[in-house]
Amino acid sequence: MSRKPIIAGNWKMNLLQSEAKALFEGISSYLSNYTAVQLPTVVIAPVFTSINQVHSIACNCGCGGNKLSVAGQNCHWESSGAYTGEISVEMLKDAGCEYVIIGHSERRQYFSETDEMINKKAKAILAGGLIPIICCGETLEQREAGSTDVHIASQIRAALSGISSEDVAKSVIAYEPIWAIGTGKTCDSAEANRVIKMIRSVVSEVAGASAADSIRILYGGSVKPSTIEEQMSQSDIDGALVGGASLKADSFNEIIANTMKVSV
Ligand code: 13P
Repeated sequence: MSRKPIIAGNWKMNLLQSEAKALFEGISSYLSNYTAVQLPTVVIAPVFTSINQVHSIACNCGCGGNKLSVAGQNCHWESSGAYTGEISVEMLKDAGCEYVIIGHSERRQYFSETDEMINKKAKAILAGGLIPIICCGETLEQREAGSTDVHIASQIRAALSGISSEDVAKSVIAYEPIWAIGTGKTCDSAEANRVIKMIRSVVSEVAGASAADSIRILYGGSVKPSTIEEQMSQSDIDGALVGGASLKADSFNEIIANTMKVSV
């Protein structure tokens, strides 16, 4: 089956509202040159305080709300309550989000997120009608010890545990080797494709062949305009989760342009 590519920009903890607005306008004006059919699915994950603004520009910019989706960078699995500093799926949806990134290695590493928490978040996101972008990835030590596949397979099994095949099919996974994030060191495309194929086979085991065929699996880690064509030419890479290069309209737009050259 042909899977529509996703190019997602994870802005992490960057950009004040005025800066987010300027960047987003630079992206949306570029997208207005194309139809939604020509474009990959474009997703932007700003900080919480800019979600509403980015969403309203997306709806009113004339490029059509259907070309741009907004994502949260995290959420809590409960719908409300005494969880200071957290945000619920319903709140993200209310602000205009369609996707939520969960299990990013920075959250696992700096905020002690566990596989169990990520599974609860994935279930809450799907129950709330949004789409989880579930991140996984190995450390350099794990790669050098030859345990990449075992580690990633276990992260994926845990994240998808107890989720119906139908919900798995609409979810998104992002394979982000930790050693490639923010380092300028991109994972070799053929190797990223090999790991992503392995992830697809784990999805097939837990949710069936049809869900494995439908689920979109992205690569993330130092994606640049110069790397995306080769990455998108691989059989199983369905798009990219972009950090640093999504913070400038020129580089993000070029990533979208180069994606369209090979695979929309
Ligand atoms: P970089 O593209 O800056 O390496 O970040 C990748 C990432 O963590 C996206 O979620």
